Amino acid sequence: MAEDTYLLAFESSCDETSVAVIKNGTEICSNIVATQIESHQRFGGVVPEVASRHHIEQVTICTQEALDQAGVDYADLAGVAVTYGPGLVGSLLIGVTAAKTIAWAHDLPLIPVNHMAGHIYAARFAGEFTYPQMALLVSGGHTELVYMPEEHVYQIVGETRDDAVGEAYDKIGRVLGVNYPAGKTVDEWAHQGKDSFNFPRAMVQEDNLDFSFSGLKSAFINTVHNADQRGGRLDKNDLAASFQAAVVDILAEKTQRALREYPVKQLILAGGVAANRGLRDRLTSDLARNFPGLKLLLAPLKLCGDNAAMIGAAGYVGYQHGDRADWDLNAVPGLSFERITPVEE
Ligand code: KG4
Ligand code: ZN
Repeated sequence: MAEDTYLLAFESSCDETSVAVIKNGTEICSNIVATQIESHQRFGGVVPEVASRHHIEQVTICTQEALDQAGVDYADLAGVAVTYGPGLVGSLLIGVTAAKTIAWAHDLPLIPVNHMAGHIYAARFAGEFTYPQMALLVSGGHTELVYMPEEHVYQIVGETRDDAVGEAYDKIGRVLGVNYPAGKTVDEWAHQGKDSFNFPRAMVQEDNLDFSFSGLKSAFINTVHNADQRGGRLDKNDLAASFQAAVVDILAEKTQRALREYPVKQLILAGGVAANRGLRDRLTSDLARNFPGLKLLLAPLKLCGDNAAMIGAAGYVGYQHGDRADWDLNAVPGLSFERITPVEE
């Protein structure tokens, strides 16, 4: 019988320090996540300097906890996987340095992982991947449609031209008085309100796979400010429902356009915003109706946000494909998959 492969994985691209032990790419032995949200809330968003400081304090504690909880020693490991981008440079550097140090000290291969590949692989814990497949990646920093013709090949076919969808949730949430990150609360309010404001659905009819959310965000903010100036109060649940209806329409329409252009066997929904109930429900019903043969794989709710288990799963595939980093591996804040369709002006 083949020996089991244990990887130690690190994630520190933004405001979560996370270390995990993953067995054979699909089994979570441990997944420790130390969140810093409280430290950033009073600033209304992530403060890079504060984030780096927290990562430094947390990374060795999380590493020890991940190994202890998994019951695994350094000698059992086959390699160390680490997010090296995209993300905040100071945050990424802590994870990269920790991973390098452990790999060097224990003579283990170092496996570089793209954070966005990690998000996709969160869905690997929900089921097998079959190719070709498409992924809708929605997070605080990114909104992109990624085509995977085969394993380990990631090609962007559409992306946001301005704000990421999670960023838009956080900004409109702030106007409604919701603490950062606002997505979850806005989602909950949306389920108690009606889509009555008819916000714009930018670019939905355009013949491309790109997104835009800044017009929607501005329309929302203007609506609230105008009402404030007139001394009126708008229903927060209806505002949330109207915002979410526009977001979900845009994402669902563009994703189905992508599925018509790129016939695939499976659609993956992943990233922090993949936890959104409205989006999960809408994609489930639209796909059942319009693409009955196509499988929808939703990232498990617990693994939608940033975590190292997803990095270990993506790292395992990189490990099998021979991805190895040297000791000079650096953080790459703007790391991106290749874009295969032209960006129209
Ligand atoms: O992937 P993630 O944890 O971090 C990045 O890599 O950006 O995503 C965080 C984002 C935040 O903007 C947060 O507001 C959003 O995901 N989010 C949600 C929901 N839960 C988290 N947005 C909409 N609905 C949710 N239920
Ligand atoms: Zn992320």
